[in-house]
Amino acid sequence: MANNNHVSIWVCPVCKLPLTKPCIGPEKNSEGTLTQQWLCDNQHSFDIAKEGYINLLLPQQKRSPSPGDTKFMVSSRQDFLSQGYYQPLSEKITELTSSHLGANSILLDSGCGEGYYLQQLIAHKSDIHIFGIDISKEATKIASRLIKNGHFAVASSFNLPVLTNSIDCLLRIFAPGDNIEAARVLKKKGVLIVISPGPRHLFALKKLLYKEAKEHTPQEALDNFSLLDEEKVSYRLEVKGAKQISQLVSMTPLYWQTDKTAQDNLNTLASLCTEIDFVIRTYRPIKDNAWANASIKQ
Ligand SMILES: C[S@@+](CC[C@H](N)C(=O)[O-])C[C@H]1O[C@@H](n2cnc3c(N)ncnc32)[C@H](O)[C@@H]1O
Ligand SMILES: [Zn+2]
Repeated sequence: MANNNHVSIWVCPVCKLPLTKPCIGPEKNSEGTLTQQWLCDNQHSFDIAKEGYINLLLPQQKRSPSPGDTKFMVSSRQDFLSQGYYQPLSEKITELTSSHLGANSILLDSGCGEGYYLQQLIAHKSDIHIFGIDISKEATKIASRLIKNGHFAVASSFNLPVLTNSIDCLLRIFAPGDNIEAARVLKKKGVLIVISPGPRHLFALKKLLYKEAKEHTPQEALDNFSLLDEEKVSYRLEVKGAKQISQLVSMTPLYWQTDKTAQDNLNTLASLCTEIDFVIRTYRPIKDNAWANASIKQ
């Protein structure tokens, strides 16, 4: 799987064989230059986009032509996060993940978005191998552009095009994922770190949007994993400006549930003071011998 210069975790989404080192492909792209490709032994090939990512999402794995976060959602999130509103969370993620990662460890961020947290992690810990997948091409493109020494693919977290038993740390930050897939790709001593909203997350914002705001329900135990650690990051956040408030909404599932009237109400606000409440859980996969011979989900 690895020498220090070239590490790969990718498998072919068609036949599940490992994908090997990029090579120059026979096809020219629209700009007339030869494309670089990843190849499996069955000669299935995947072009490398000019930003550096590969698209390993097969058409039959898509539920819509452009799955995942849209260009608007991605750029709203990027703008909002760049103003430091979630910096305390980012620092905690960096501290926690670093404590599980020795030199040359392999980290996969599943549903990585545009790589906000990965950027900060790699600035602090440069001796690890960073991989990220997201089902949104727009998000993956930006992550790949921003993190030159990371490796990115458009893919689904429910069908990871990733070698079994290959990952030291799997990150899942406000993103969906499949726990059987997570346990499959993790090494026996690997960890899954899940960041999700705590009960009071954005409660004041919800009260503005709904007649009856409800607290988030705590996550249940994960099958195939044991809980190693649980931490909270909580603080009060003041968001200034209607544009920034609307960017915050578009980063969350509230975006899909906010009607025009509620959106108009938000647009009249000059600032918003709300709760930030994150829960960070670290899990270890429960692996029996079956995993040693497990093959990737078909
Ligand atoms: C709320 S955003 C979080 C992004 C990033 N982790 C962050 O916190 O900045 C959720 C992300 O999950 C991605 N996503 C949604 N469904 C997915 C799937 N089935 N597989 C991979 N990514 C998915 C979306 O495109 C989006 O980028
Ligand atoms: Zn193949």
